Amino acid sequence: MISVDGLTVEFGGTTLFKDISFVINDKDRIALMGKNGAGKSTLLKIIAGVRTTSLGKISAPKDAVIAYLPQHLMTEDNRTVFEEAAQAFAEIKEMEVEIEALNLEMSTRTDYESDSYYTLIEQVSALSEKFYAIEEINYDAEVEKILIGLGFKREDFTRSTSEFSGGWRMRIELAKILLKKPDLILLDEPTNHMDIESIQWLEDFLINSAKAVILISHDRAFVDNITTRTIEVTMGRIYDYKVNYSQYLTLRQERREQQLKQFEEQRRMIADNQDFIDRFKGTYSKTNQVQSRVKMLEKLTLVEIDEEDNSALLDFDGTLILVSHDRDFLSGLVTKVFEFGNKQVKEHLGDIHSFLQKKRMDTLRELERNTQK
Ligand SMILES: Nc1ncnc2c1ncn2[C@@H]1O[C@H](COP(=O)(O)OP(=O)(O)O)[C@@H](O)[C@H]1O
Ligand SMILES: [Mg+2]
Repeated sequence: MISVDGLTVEFGGTTLFKDISFVINDKDRIALMGKNGAGKSTLLKIIAGVRTTSLGKISAPKDAVIAYLPQHLMTEDNRTVFEEAAQAFAEIKEMEVEIEALNLEMSTRTDYESDSYYTLIEQVSALSEKFYAIEEINYDAEVEKILIGLGFKREDFTRSTSEFSGGWRMRIELAKILLKKPDLILLDEPTNHMDIESIQWLEDFLINSAKAVILISHDRAFVDNITTRTIEVTMGRIYDYKVNYSQYLTLRQERREQQLKQFEEQRRMIADNQDFIDRFKGTYSKTNQVQSRVKMLEKLTLVEIDEEDNSALLDFDGTLILVSHDRDFLSGLVTKVFEFGNKQVKEHLGDIHSFLQKKRMDTLRELERNTQK
């Protein structure tokens, strides 16, 4: 169990978060959602320990492994794809080498009675205990399985990482993370540079093989399939619900309606009281009542309404061409669909839903899968 206690983050006078707390349980699959600039990446970095915070702390068991895939990253360029991915096991391999070296030293020494010989024995046994507690696996086979799953070809294994684009290097980094079998995986937009087959593979991997996961992604289907809990960062607060993102959106809609209702009620209440105050300000017999109402209004905490996620693209009056597999993003935004496949481009008039209906397909992901074959 990892806990986030009272995080507050400020940048040059503006508060990004104020006093945020939540607990990450062993098998939690958390979607971290919120508008651009809400602070999702910052929160992930703080949990990963690559950023510090002015107030609050992250507590984790001493031996907990937390792995983090940043939104933007660089990889070393001098190793092959396979070597780089196998770096995931570098620590274990080092342990093995060290045990061998210590054993060799023990076998060549004869000062059995000395303190230093005794220290040596203790060192070897402590290290061996740690080493043999690690599940015995075929490391090379694991590396191979994960690289293939993420879309690499066998002939890529011996090529230098420098020959690959940023998106492919990101996948190598992701392979390393998955191979380490961390207690908590933090992923910031992992699907941005992936094709649909690899996304599906990652989805299956996270569902079946991962421990706890916190995921930031714009890919709604990906998020919905993996996660069972949603944390939304909005206006410096978080909302934490034990449902996937789509179910959360329904709840959020209800929450917003509730807020609007409370906001209206409060506005009416303020207006009524203000009327009373204005009317009886000078009336001696009402002095106490007027004063207490003034005080009450001064102390009032105003109801806040969460901002709506209005896409600025809707206001744009020029021609807009979007490339996306995100159905919800495209919905309400596009009026025409161009379909690429079989070396042809087909034009469909109508929005994304009428297009999908026409194709009798549930999701654009299915479409991408079909056209790629
Ligand atoms: N080191 C920094 N200094 C100042 N402002 C920052 C810094 N890092 C992030 N921010 C600001 O904090 C806000 C949240 O950023 P980020 O966590 O990347 O949001 P998200 O991932 O939700 O889009 C943004 O307005 C960003 O400009
Ligand atoms: Mg971000």
